[in-house]
Amino acid sequence: MPSPSKPAKGSDFITQTLAAPVTPAEAALRPLSFTDFTGQPKTVERLQVMVGAARKRGEPLNHILLSGPPGLGKTTLAFILGHELGRNVRITSGPVVEKAGDLAGLLTNLEEGDILFIDEIHRIPKAVEEYLYSAMEDFRLDIMIDQGPNARSVRLTIPRFTLVGATTRAGLLTAPLRSRFTLQTRLDYYDIPTLEGIVHRSCRLLHVQIDPGGAREIASRSRGTPRVANNLINFVRDFAQERADGRITQPVAARALELLEIDAAGLDEMDKRMLRVMAEHYRGGPVGMSTIAVAVSEEAETLEEVHEPFLIQEGYLQRTPQGRVLTAKGYQAVGLKAAVGQQQSLL
Ligand SMILES: Nc1ncnc2c1ncn2[C@@H]1O[C@H](COP(=O)(O)OP(=O)(O)OP(=O)(O)O)[C@@H](O)[C@H]1O
Ligand SMILES: [Mg+2]
Repeated sequence: MPSPSKPAKGSDFITQTLAAPVTPAEAALRPLSFTDFTGQPKTVERLQVMVGAARKRGEPLNHILLSGPPGLGKTTLAFILGHELGRNVRITSGPVVEKAGDLAGLLTNLEEGDILFIDEIHRIPKAVEEYLYSAMEDFRLDIMIDQGPNARSVRLTIPRFTLVGATTRAGLLTAPLRSRFTLQTRLDYYDIPTLEGIVHRSCRLLHVQIDPGGAREIASRSRGTPRVANNLINFVRDFAQERADGRITQPVAARALELLEIDAAGLDEMDKRMLRVMAEHYRGGPVGMSTIAVAVSEEAETLEEVHEPFLIQEGYLQRTPQGRVLTAKGYQAVGLKAAVGQQQSLL
């Protein structure tokens, strides 16, 4: 098995960046192979094709960009790629690679065929991004050393590596960077039956007893997101232990999730605050995201990355050139009716 947490030889930088935000609980539930990973059939098939071909040809995998909302499995898939290919996966994150020298340190420590996983790749500084182009394309880096009259360019040849980039905001990637990924694939929210399977699997690994009704209840309130499902399982397990006989059944799960104020559709407190603000203060819109952000005291970027995609997919919100607009379903979710005049335009 590849060891993602193994520090690279002599590089403090890599060791440091390996402190990725992965909790032990999350790591324990992470699928390690394609057979263990359910859902995302298109992305999985695309990756399997590439892995199979690269293996047969004995060549490194081409560069891959994984995009999609948080918690759907981008990091998990990067590890699976390493595992399936029997290669190391080195992790870093866009904002951490501050200078070209940081990138050089990372790349020169790789071995042929290794995977460099750059999380939040849309946040890589522009000055560093330009160095990535030649690294990805020609496996070389021309970097400047020294300053003033002594300044000179040094060419570093780097091992043929695979860059796996992950982003929650594919739209923020520059066109030149995006075009250097052979495969760009987007992860979608999971449907309820797939999430039920994931809930059963996690409970098995955690030695938690759960019946089909309990799994369905948790799955349907997980906003289509495995990470949310796993987090809910942890709370529901505690609840089952403290307030029931330890088994997760439908009524136990429902009571636990009510205590967390997660409604039957999985909307959380922030989702509902957004919808309520739009209904009550802006007559359902159109209203800009920055205005909503101020009203609910949250960063616009977080709302756009974490909350909005789910609300749009499920039909609570619409995105128009004038701003966000609440739908009839959005009004219903917060127990309100569309404003007069709004209802017409919503039909
Ligand atoms: N298809 C799946 N099957 C089972 N578990 C999954 C699946 N996808 C994700 N998970 C679980 O969800 C958790 C979150 O996934 P992961 O960390 O890969 O998400 P991510 O897309 O990288 O999120 P972020 O954008 O926040 O970094 C993992 O710990 C894993 O246990
Ligand atoms: Mg991740």
